[in-house]
Amino acid sequence: MNPLFNDSSITVAIVGCGGFIGCHLLDAILTRTQWRVFGVDLDFYRIQHRLSNERCEFMVADLADKSVVERIAKYPVVVNLAAICTPSRYMAEASEVIRSNYDHPASLAEACAKSGSWLIHFSTSEVYGRTSADSGLLVEDETELTFGPVSASRWSYATAKLLTERYIAGLKNLKWTVVRPFNFVGPYMDFMPGVDGSGIPRVLANFSSALVRGEPLKLVNGGTAKRSFTSVFDAIEFLFALFETGKMGRVSAALGAATEVSKLPFSQAFNVGNPDNEITIAELAHKMRKIFAEIKGVSLESIPEPEKISGVEYYGKGYDDSMRRLPSVEKAERLLGFKAQTPIDVVLRESLTWFVMHYGFPNH
Ligand code: UGA
Repeated sequence: MNPLFNDSSITVAIVGCGGFIGCHLLDAILTRTQWRVFGVDLDFYRIQHRLSNERCEFMVADLADKSVVERIAKYPVVVNLAAICTPSRYMAEASEVIRSNYDHPASLAEACAKSGSWLIHFSTSEVYGRTSADSGLLVEDETELTFGPVSASRWSYATAKLLTERYIAGLKNLKWTVVRPFNFVGPYMDFMPGVDGSGIPRVLANFSSALVRGEPLKLVNGGTAKRSFTSVFDAIEFLFALFETGKMGRVSAALGAATEVSKLPFSQAFNVGNPDNEITIAELAHKMRKIFAEIKGVSLESIPEPEKISGVEYYGKGYDDSMRRLPSVEKAERLLGFKAQTPIDVVLRESLTWFVMHYGFPNH
């Protein structure tokens, strides 16, 4: 084992520790390393089984509280996963979305710059904005970032995330890495409406909920938008490659030899995605119906056909969309030796099986 993973003097602060990505990161740290964790979130229902772990300390709080921010920044590595990140909220709660995705992370970044912590900040693939159907590979340091008009309030989230990236990159003395997730999916993603959350979750959880309820999947604007779905377990592998390459922040860019410095993951934004898993949302619906029928042991014909609906009708005024999000993954491969491996059919079967086991069939 890498001695870094055996080092019990390391504590990682995880903001959003009880969320979808946070719960998987916590599990991986506790099973693969000897590190300690300081976990912050507003709820911990996904990680109940970890609450009494002696290597963990948890705090119910959010980044609106400056004293909490100061406390988090005392740890040498800070992973910030906290965000409002479901598109159904970007229109109706634009101001809250901006506070959560700009004000709060900006104050955490300032505190990390003062304390010298390595901030690993989760941004979004949505910073690439209103991409068209024929846009090509999205490259971290090259692609133009273009958003819709202010009246298209869908972009409240993406503009706040982008401003945070720019703020982080401009802060003097901050050791930072930005992660741009491309549609991570897997167990514990989002919620089931009416069971453990309300509103419209992201597409995988929404389609899974409709399937177990025997309702038709909704194809927004015909389901022609494309996404590159990425296993959350691949995302965790990315983080471990990052921790290892960045030596848990214990290396100073100023001290390294020039060739080494160019390979360090600091002051970099990374796409984390799986371009091999690109599909349209209509194809996603078809695959999920097929897998669900197999899991349930019924015919595909017995699963309701998807229905088309307009984005504004489904999400409300101000909804807009990225038509294609195809990540370039060259940088993560070059600097970290990381490449997502899990094929789309495996990711979907694993996620849907978990969903059925976790929630059952509420209408049956
Ligand atoms: C969202 C967030 O805004 C991003 O920040 C985040 O990085 C990203 O998810 C992610 O999971 O990584 P988006 O991909 O638009 O962005 O989120 P979804 O709600 O999962 O929608 C994906 C596509 O499916 C969109 O075209 C949407 O219109 C469509 N959709 C969604 C449906 O056709 N039916 C549904 O029931 C739900």
